[in-house]
Amino acid sequence: MKEITFKRHRRLRQSATMRSMVKETYLHKEDFIYPIFVMDGENIKNEVSSMPGVFQFSIDRLGEEMDEVVSLGIPSVILFGLPAEKDEVGSQAFHNHGIVQEAIRFVKKNYPEIVVIADTCLCEFTSHGHCGVVNDKEQILNDPSLDLLAKTAVSQAEAGADIIAPSNMMDGFVAAIRKGLDNAGFEDVPIMSYAVKYASAYYGPFRDAADGAPKFGDRKTYQMDPANRIEAMREATSDVEAGADFLIVKPALAYLDIVRDVRNNYDLPVVAYNVSGEYAMVKAASINGWIDEKQTVLETLLGMKRAGADLIITYHAKDAVRWMEGK
Ligand code: PBG
Ligand code: ZN
Repeated sequence: MKEITFKRHRRLRQSATMRSMVKETYLHKEDFIYPIFVMDGENIKNEVSSMPGVFQFSIDRLGEEMDEVVSLGIPSVILFGLPAEKDEVGSQAFHNHGIVQEAIRFVKKNYPEIVVIADTCLCEFTSHGHCGVVNDKEQILNDPSLDLLAKTAVSQAEAGADIIAPSNMMDGFVAAIRKGLDNAGFEDVPIMSYAVKYASAYYGPFRDAADGAPKFGDRKTYQMDPANRIEAMREATSDVEAGADFLIVKPALAYLDIVRDVRNNYDLPVVAYNVSGEYAMVKAASINGWIDEKQTVLETLLGMKRAGADLIITYHAKDAVRWMEGK
């Protein structure tokens, strides 16, 4: 009679100390980038209804948020802006005193050690809400958008942005922005490219927060089809060739296979964007008492690291650091 043999995996799970010795993946506060929404106006701190715990701030109250970020030891923020006025070409995106430019100046002046990332797109600034220039047939035009995006990036760098993060998904945007930055003397400002960005329903709450929903149509002619994995490699390759310094995969949770592919195929830092809809789902379930928020968030963020992310852009950053430090 043959004896049953098997492996005893549970040997390594017997105690907390034993488990800590064989732990493969860690979260660090240095992994996190915290998104902040800055709004034109005064004395504003508006909670975003679909994103409990996330606020729109006017610049005069931005210090409240930044003080928390700094005290928690989060190294970096990414800024999104809600301008006073919008127009066809998104002029406020590249205005020297636009809302994002002023917010960058405020943060760099008062919190010089924080790495300030500027999201570079037009959708929050255009009257139609698309990420590029639109013609009378409601088509989103690629090449005419590139000049405006490069101008936007240069004005953000002039205001003091440490990193430019273009999210617009026009073809050639990294090359155009790199050239614009270099010609303006900003050779040392890195580009964190939204290299692999899918046309996703998970951006819904963000579009409330940043008032950036398209007024007609959708973003499927420029953002990627969620069905495509090989195409993600083409997108990433073109941005690497154009000189990107970081590669973002967005969204994160439904795209962890893509995070792993990008990690395995490129030698740049990989950034997972844990987007607004992912945040809203966890918040809604935890407010209802259906899941344990702390355990769920830390498990989700750990999953992103395990999938290969070096950095995570996440609205959970402040809570996550508190929980990681037992606060
Ligand atoms: C703007 C932009 C979007 C997000 C980041 N930059 C929205 C979009 O492309 O429609 C989404 C972020 C999130 O959902 O948290 N191009
Ligand atoms: Zn956009």
